Amino acid sequence: MMTDFDRQYSRLGTASVKWDSIRETYGKDDLIPLWVADMDFMAPRPVIKALQDYTEKGIFGYSVFPDSLYDAIIDWEQTRYDYPLKKEEILFSPGVVPSIGVAIQAYTAPGDTVLIHDPVYHPFANMVKANGRVVSASPLLEQNGHFEMDLADMEARIKAENIKLFILCNPHNPGGRVWLREELLAVGRLCQKYGVTVVADEIHQDLVFAPHRHVSFHTVAPDFADFSIILTAATKTFNLAGIKNSMAYIKNAELRRTFHQVQEMTEQATISTFGLIGTEAAYRYGEPWLTELLAYLAENSRFTHDFLTEKLPRVTMMLPEGTYLAWLDFSQLGLTDAQLQKRLVEEAGVVLNAGTIFGKQGNGHMRLNLACPKETLTAGLERIAAVFG
Ligand SMILES: Cc1ncc(COP(=O)(O)O)c(C=O)c1O
Repeated sequence: MMTDFDRQYSRLGTASVKWDSIRETYGKDDLIPLWVADMDFMAPRPVIKALQDYTEKGIFGYSVFPDSLYDAIIDWEQTRYDYPLKKEEILFSPGVVPSIGVAIQAYTAPGDTVLIHDPVYHPFANMVKANGRVVSASPLLEQNGHFEMDLADMEARIKAENIKLFILCNPHNPGGRVWLREELLAVGRLCQKYGVTVVADEIHQDLVFAPHRHVSFHTVAPDFADFSIILTAATKTFNLAGIKNSMAYIKNAELRRTFHQVQEMTEQATISTFGLIGTEAAYRYGEPWLTELLAYLAENSRFTHDFLTEKLPRVTMMLPEGTYLAWLDFSQLGLTDAQLQKRLVEEAGVVLNAGTIFGKQGNGHMRLNLACPKETLTAGLERIAAVFG
């Protein structure tokens, strides 16, 4: 049966990073973009309608944060994740990445070392460096078919490098790992022991495949909110990245005060009206769409895995437990990263994210975005198989 997610839309000429920028980067027209974490799907209808209704009024002045927006957020977190939030614990920001910058400035000093994982979403390291701090990247272990944290390595780094801030990706991009409560408990206790503040980037929280379940870092144990903050958004879940809105959930008053102080230094706490409207409509009315989306993504993931197993067995895929990203291991092909990337673009005509941007362990890997119509995905995979199969 054809679903809305099967519809192919041309995104060319929409100033899309995913589609329009690659023409300039690679000087080619017919590339299939399977990179960048946005989806080639239309947002939920009620979100489009809410934005249209606002646009129709034609006046685009400054906005306040309405109570109805807070209510929609509080309801979403409580209902889906048993995560109780109060209005005063919610701060807004144009994006999770800007908030990572704010947190780095608020909770560390220039020259301090910040702990992240390897591999992990590349702006973590970029933001640490851009703010004059030092990156310490603890390699994730590939075990049991997925990534696991190396707590002994993390502890050694925290001690030796006097680390006071850890940025966690929960669920994990690019590995698609949905961390278990026990794992979060262990890493949280470790951080607590050494006075390390945890910034949990939970932007992929809603993109989780059953039977896996997202556990918000604040719900792991009653005292976890004392030393951690959550950064999240509706924009990844509902394909609204361009409207720019995100939330920081900060229960500890001192962590909230210092975060907000840094936000105020550059007036970062006011955001686009479209972001407010889109977020509220998505959380209020987007759940049925999300349920269908997750089924579609799970099928794309299974399909990709089966396709590779059958047609390209030397390229292996870590099955994502969450996110719409697949971590592919091309290392058996024996190519350098430069060769691999060149051949994917020039011979196969597909654009994936180079694994190396996510850390040293990304060597020989690529990240593939599964969030497109199955026809697009199939065409991309067939092109890859034709070159490397
Ligand atoms: C883990 C993670 N954090 C943050 C972002 C981007 O967040 P924002 O657009 O709100 O800055 C992404 C986008 O892919 C992501 O994967």
